[in-house]
Amino acid sequence: MTEAISYFQDRTCPYHPPAGYQPLRETGPLTHVALYDGRKVWAVTGHSEARALLSDQRLSSDRQNPAFPMPFERFASIAQVRTPLIGVDDPEHNTQRRMLIPSFSVKRVAALRPDIHRIVDELLDRMLAEGPPAELVSTFALPVPSMVICSLLGVPYSDHEFFEGESRRLLRSRTAEEAKQARIKLEEYFTDLIAHKEKNPGDGLLDELIEERLRTGTLAHEDLVRLVMILLVAGHETTANMISLGTFTLLEHPEQLAQLKAEESLMPTAVEELLRFLSIADGMLRVAKEDIEIGGQLIRADDGVLFPTSLINRDEATYPSPDELDLDRSARHHIAFGFGIHQCLGQNLARAEMEIALRSLFTRIPGLRLAVPAAEIPFKPGDTLQGMIELPLAW
Ligand code: HEM
Repeated sequence: MTEAISYFQDRTCPYHPPAGYQPLRETGPLTHVALYDGRKVWAVTGHSEARALLSDQRLSSDRQNPAFPMPFERFASIAQVRTPLIGVDDPEHNTQRRMLIPSFSVKRVAALRPDIHRIVDELLDRMLAEGPPAELVSTFALPVPSMVICSLLGVPYSDHEFFEGESRRLLRSRTAEEAKQARIKLEEYFTDLIAHKEKNPGDGLLDELIEERLRTGTLAHEDLVRLVMILLVAGHETTANMISLGTFTLLEHPEQLAQLKAEESLMPTAVEELLRFLSIADGMLRVAKEDIEIGGQLIRADDGVLFPTSLINRDEATYPSPDELDLDRSARHHIAFGFGIHQCLGQNLARAEMEIALRSLFTRIPGLRLAVPAAEIPFKPGDTLQGMIELPLAW
């Protein structure tokens, strides 16, 4: 038997899956991989098998299940506590999700578009006034989604340095202890914020949840704290990576970028293709509650199941020439936002932010280019959300 490939590996190019995962594409649709602690889990690389499994209730997202696989050391700090929404199964999950859906609907996001435009324009005004050069992550890619989610939730953006820093530690620290400290600090922050808002109500989603759920006893205080933390962390780190890595990728594909600039209406299709191609959330996890037969393999109860989105979204049977960025292609049905009951709650918002941010960036700064050679620009390690650490630009 050949040795199982280890997961997570670092990318060698920020927009392609790690070269070390290549054999998984040849042996799929289900192959064993080894996690950092040596545990073997199933890696699902087939697109149709992934969609079938992600909508199969026999797979669980409950991180407190002792059989739930640990993808990296810091995950232990997450598994210690009950994580609402993303870490619970139906029917509980459904109750929590239904409570939030109206705030992230297509209609609600459409109403937010003028605000997103204003935020994007103000940040670009500042970038143009101060540059060139400019570092895109800190001046634009991170502030755009951070300001938007703050205004949606009713969290003061003036605290952004604190919560961005702790979110980074939660998502990227090497040790479980450091991640735990970050989680505790964020929980304390939200506990204080909720106490303040109980006396001084505002008009964000957090205020609504306090009024309609906390006061009525239909949502536990602990769940509200963790829920708002999930929304804040998921709401800024993810989209920030898509804006920074999306910009880098477009600058590295000048013909595609020229086509995008020439055809404004291409933007929504282009965003879907960027989501597919970049697959920044590369490795969702589940644990099997029962035996499941699929793709010629038997997943047994308590087996861990991993979904490497960067490989699933490059399944040749679904996407011809999958390793090519093709902004014209219909990348619909990609699973960059996941699939099934946990499919990204914020996807409408993320799409609007990406479209507005990328369109405005390239329209207002037509001569945008990398300020240093691509190979010198640092990007994130494989065991976290994928994206650029910094993106120095000139024009
Ligand atoms: C381009 C940016 C984004 C990407 C690539 C992304 C990706 C994902 C993925 C892959 C999942 C599924 C996780 C799983 O099944 O285990 C997910 C779930 C989730 N995302 Fe996003 N996300 C993005 C933006 C956002 C934004 C802006 C929000 C806003 C709050 C958000 C909130 C959530 C929440 C709350 C869940 C859990 C939903 C549930 O369990 O029902 N995401 N996201």
